[in-house]
Amino acid sequence: MSDQGKRLAAEAALEYVEEDAYVGVGTGSTVNLFIDALADMRDRIAGAVSSSEASTQRLRDRGIDVIDLNSAGRLPVYVDGADEANRFLQLIKGGGGALTREKIVASASDRFVCVADDGKMVDVLGAFPLPVEVIPMARSTVARELVRLGGRPELREGFTTDNGNVILDVHGLSITEPIKLEQTLNNIPGVVTNGIFALRPADLLLLGSDSGVRRLK
Ligand code: 5RP
Repeated sequence: MSDQGKRLAAEAALEYVEEDAYVGVGTGSTVNLFIDALADMRDRIAGAVSSSEASTQRLRDRGIDVIDLNSAGRLPVYVDGADEANRFLQLIKGGGGALTREKIVASASDRFVCVADDGKMVDVLGAFPLPVEVIPMARSTVARELVRLGGRPELREGFTTDNGNVILDVHGLSITEPIKLEQTLNNIPGVVTNGIFALRPADLLLLGSDSGVRRLK
């Protein structure tokens, strides 16, 4: 994992931010670097729509106005990180537990710019345990169904999402059909959403490394 790669990818995303508009902002350490860089152009954007309480706090601390998605309407650009990405720009997200709001803001955006260090690129998604956000009363029923589908769910101990739910991290999945699995998991009663972003993949992937930024689309 390269901190320099994260930083270069995060800074490269600035060129896709539209002036005088609200920008969608994801969550995580790479996005934190993006927020720091975005602060330099805060006077040229309308503000931000945020995918987590943590990002909202960081944006506000840097003088960037944050508004509710309901007040913003569609967004031209959403910038967010990923835990894994494949060559179709399908992603696993949710390592930080913000997957549901991230998926909502991504769905409200015309362009999803994903920023990551190049270690996140994989051939097949699933080595990273797949986060699934679950309504607390359904934790056990959902876990049993995830086992039936071939996974090994583990409760993320001591963690509650911004929406008041729990996260099951599912180990042992080899996700060869991301769209199909995303739909299947979302149909389990009690699942709020899962961390596969394949129905709405990224539009542009900025992969940073010590030697620069590779752009995939
Ligand atoms: C948070 C996410 C993050 O984008 C993902 O975990 C990547 O984080 P980082 O930039 O810290 O590697 O999905 O829910």
